[in-house]
Amino acid sequence: MKTIEWKEGIVVTIDQTKLPTETIILKMTSCGEVAEAIKTMKIRGAPLLGAAAGYGLALAAYHSNAKTKGQLMKELIASAQALRRTRPTAINLFWALERVLEKARGAEGDVATAVSLVIDEAEKIASEDVDINKAIGKHGSPLIDDGDTVLTHCNAGRLATVDYGTALGVIRAAWKDGKNINVIATETRPLLQGSRLTTYELLQDGIPVTLITDNMAGYVLSKGLINKIVVGADRIVTDAVINKIGTYTIAVLAKENNVPFYVAAPESTFDLERSSKNVLIEERKADEVVRFNDVLVAPTGVEVLNPAFDITPLKYVSAIIYEKGILHPKEFRRLQLNKN
Ligand code: MRU
Repeated sequence: MKTIEWKEGIVVTIDQTKLPTETIILKMTSCGEVAEAIKTMKIRGAPLLGAAAGYGLALAAYHSNAKTKGQLMKELIASAQALRRTRPTAINLFWALERVLEKARGAEGDVATAVSLVIDEAEKIASEDVDINKAIGKHGSPLIDDGDTVLTHCNAGRLATVDYGTALGVIRAAWKDGKNINVIATETRPLLQGSRLTTYELLQDGIPVTLITDNMAGYVLSKGLINKIVVGADRIVTDAVINKIGTYTIAVLAKENNVPFYVAAPESTFDLERSSKNVLIEERKADEVVRFNDVLVAPTGVEVLNPAFDITPLKYVSAIIYEKGILHPKEFRRLQLNKN
């Protein structure tokens, strides 16, 4: 099964908060349910947020009783607004909403035609994501050598996308190309996407993986135990990569220890209109930090900081792997100049 699927007016996905101990399938029939699933992290990971946002609008359209295109458009705009309020940092969500709304705006003919255009566009976003991830894997695999140990942070795998993954897509492709590799996965506090999701995916595929806590990254890098680092991204802006909290620490440590630091992400993650100072970094509830698996691990009432993402300046990035190839920071800057 793909991480998210459309089945005639129902969006089917897996509740990622329960993995790896329970496999709970969610069947959503309204855009509100999709928005709630995103807010509560049942659905997470930048490309998957894009696909889910598209499907949220597809549900709104499919179940709409609108009699005119104007009315349908109003409902879609309201649904898009609700989805925009779920999580602010990954640009893929906003990108997908714009893409589907644009289709609806340009629809000619009756309401039924507009509804089917919206659903088709959401389906397209989801199916393209799989091809894009495979292309990222193909371009990234040559960067990984036989015998490498590759560190990855958070989960940029099948579960963070519709299928295959971005950073884990590169690892999967290298493995499929016959390279004998090992993966080190950081646990990724506070929500443990690395220990719960990345190790689960890699074990399922039979790719050797070792779990470390986040604060062990410096030690393993300094001991020469890591040859490459590959992570995903939630937004790549003109001066930085924005990804799961802890990425910046690993990138700085990588430079200090001369280990290549690669970012694997689709072009839909690029935000060439903004620099990092203009991006809202999501702050999540204190509860995620003061509790570990529902057990209180801090004194009641302690002040907590819980940013979900951090900002890695491009000077720490060896290359960005995307569906069209490899971009070294200089080439990424050239791409920006060509766009503007
Ligand atoms: O808070 P999350 O779990 O949505 O954060 C996910 C990440 O930071 C991933 O590294 C990123 O979205 C890339 S996923 C291919």
